[in-house]
Amino acid sequence: MPASFNRRQLLRNGALLSGMALLPGVLTSLKAAPRRQIEPASFVNFLTDEELARETTPPEIKARLSANENPFGPSPKAKQAIIEAIGNTYRYAFFEGRKMIELIAKAEALQPNQILLSAGSSALLQAGAMVYNSGTILSAQPTYEDLLSKAESMGTKVIRLPLTSAYKYDLDAIEKAIDATTSLIYICNPNNPTATLLDPVKLKSFCEKVSKKVPVFIDEAYIDLVEDPAVSSMMPLVKEGHNVIIVRTFSKLYGMAGMRFGYMVAQPETIKKFSALTPGSNSIASTTWAAAISSYEDKDFLRDAYTKIKESKEYLYNVLKEEGYTYIPSSANFVIFPVKEDSRSFATKMSNNGVSVRSWQFNNQQWCRVSIGTLEEMKAFALSLAKIS
Ligand SMILES: Cc1ncc(COP(=O)(O)O)c(C=O)c1O
Repeated sequence: MPASFNRRQLLRNGALLSGMALLPGVLTSLKAAPRRQIEPASFVNFLTDEELARETTPPEIKARLSANENPFGPSPKAKQAIIEAIGNTYRYAFFEGRKMIELIAKAEALQPNQILLSAGSSALLQAGAMVYNSGTILSAQPTYEDLLSKAESMGTKVIRLPLTSAYKYDLDAIEKAIDATTSLIYICNPNNPTATLLDPVKLKSFCEKVSKKVPVFIDEAYIDLVEDPAVSSMMPLVKEGHNVIIVRTFSKLYGMAGMRFGYMVAQPETIKKFSALTPGSNSIASTTWAAAISSYEDKDFLRDAYTKIKESKEYLYNVLKEEGYTYIPSSANFVIFPVKEDSRSFATKMSNNGVSVRSWQFNNQQWCRVSIGTLEEMKAFALSLAKIS
């Protein structure tokens, strides 16, 4: 965000944008182009990032706090590596995948045939919907809908169980719901949109027990943002031979959402099934390889980004408290909080002030999900919140 962005500009943007056509819970459009109204599902107004981009024209958004990106990335090493890789982009990147697999295998004590690379983790979620399309998928609501909604569009039955009163996956209820038709359990940990983290001891014993009957797919997109990822991640279960699938992305703490890099870790036979349905390493650009390889173990950058996100999050918590809002304590780079009006109109008002956030409805409650941005962006959020509250 430009340093000159201030309250006056916010107000000016608000005045400029007011009265324009808006989509429910999404960004403001500058052009009044005709577009499709997206009907939210009964419990959640979920738009994937792709849908959001497709359904809106580029907005005058100053603080984009709607896609859980890391504004402190990518790492300086990744930027430099991208520049250096440009000259060689005329070549196919045949060999870089091996290097990345070696790095992951070494760091996680895995065999190379337990790792599958992808241009972002979304393709792996989609492949998950394809691999497990004969049976019933068990998950929760609200959660990250990508795999689930794609599974449904392929005709697979999805059972979504309510979260606990602490807004976490109800592992006992999921275990009880397993029957002969269950083909997969999808768990997002930390969960999007609630940013809640499961107790690692409970999740581990759940996975050890349940994965004997049904594969457990854990989407760890936000695991790098928890206090101690080594404790909270279920990755070691793969090494121990359990039928657990872990999916990670560089779109969050690594700050590489636009570069597209993600990976999956699972038993070799599962990797084979997913490989058959994903373009794998061939879909990854040489600039992305360069960035991913150079930032994978850039501990200084990762620590620095984590600290800055934590600072912005603390600031946001204080702002919410001052304005009389409660919130669910977050283990990720976004925070969800209840709002006192229709969440779509709340998001629209924020958007009119140049601040994009996401709206949700669940548990008979309206919610706003705000991603953690720079301090300057969080100040823009604070100004807008004060204006509309
Ligand atoms: C829980 C979760 N999983 C997966 C993704 C997809 O990430 P990507 O395709 O950028 O790796 C996201 C994106 O926001 C997410 O929130």
